Amino acid sequence: MARSALLNVMVQAALKAGKSLSRDFGEVQNLQVSVKGPGDFVSQADLKAQKIIHDELLKARPTYGFLGEESEEIKGTDGAHRWIVDPLDGTTNFLHGIPMFSISIALERNGEIVGGVVFNPATDELYTAERGGGAFLNDRRLRVASRRVLSDCVIGCGVPHLGRGNHGKFLVELRHVMGEVAGIRRLGSAALDLAYVAAGRFDGFWEMGLSPWDMAAGILLVREAGGFVLDFDGGTDMLGTGSIICGNEHIQKALAEVVKRPIPTK
Ligand code: IPD
Ligand code: CA
Ligand code: CA
Repeated sequence: MARSALLNVMVQAALKAGKSLSRDFGEVQNLQVSVKGPGDFVSQADLKAQKIIHDELLKARPTYGFLGEESEEIKGTDGAHRWIVDPLDGTTNFLHGIPMFSISIALERNGEIVGGVVFNPATDELYTAERGGGAFLNDRRLRVASRRVLSDCVIGCGVPHLGRGNHGKFLVELRHVMGEVAGIRRLGSAALDLAYVAAGRFDGFWEMGLSPWDMAAGILLVREAGGFVLDFDGGTDMLGTGSIICGNEHIQKALAEVVKRPIPTK
C-alpha cells in the first residue's frame, strides 16, 4: 500500500497525538478513583492532542486552513485546502476508561474530502483512505460488508443523552430499526463507527446532530471501501446537516427507509 506524502503527514500527526492520548488514558484510569475525577484532565488531554496535530499538519502545509473541534477555525491563505480534525472522538469513553476512542483527521480539497485517517491508539488500529485509492486498516484493504437484508445486519448508531439531541425522534427511529435488524451497537465514537462500517464490522450506521470533525474522515473511509453515504434528506451534505446514514448500496437504502419511517399515529 503506497501512501501519498500528504497522507503520510496525516498518519504521522495521528500517531504522535495517539502517543500523547495513550499516556493520558493511562493516567485517567488512575484518576477514576480520585474524588475530583478526571474531567479537567481529559479536557487538557484533548487540547494537547489537537495542538500536536495542528503543529504537525501546519508544519507540512502552512497555507492550509484548519478546522478543529477545540479551537476557532483558522482560514488558510490557500483557499482550496482545509484540515478537519477531531483530536479525541469518544471523549465520554476516554473519561470513563473505556478504550474506544479515536483521532480523526481529514483533508478537504475544494469542498471534497480527499484524505482521511482515523486512529484508535488503544487498539493500534489505523484506518486510512485517499480518494480513488481505497481504504485500509493498517495494511489490509477494506471492503464494506456485503449483506443485503437488514435482518442479517448489525447496525451502529448514536444515542442522544442528557442535554443533547432529539430524544423523542431517536426513540421512534430506534423502535423502527430494532424491529428489523440482527443487532444494534453504540460505540461512542462516530469516527470509529464509520471506520467499522468501512471494515465490514458494522453493516450500516446512522446518527444525527454530528459535527464535521466527527464524520469527515470516516465518510471517505466508507466510500473508499465501496459504501454509500447520504444525509437524512438523501443528499450528500452530511457535513452541513450533521446527519448521516450509510452502508453498502442495499443496506444504506433499506436503513434510510426504516430510520425515516413516519411516527405511528396510534
Ligand atoms: C461524540 C462522539 C459520539 C457521538 C457524539 C459526538 P466527542 O464526539 O462521536 O459517538 O454520538 O455526537 O459528539 O464529543 O466524543 O468528540
Ligand atoms: Ca467528536
Ligand atoms: Ca472531540
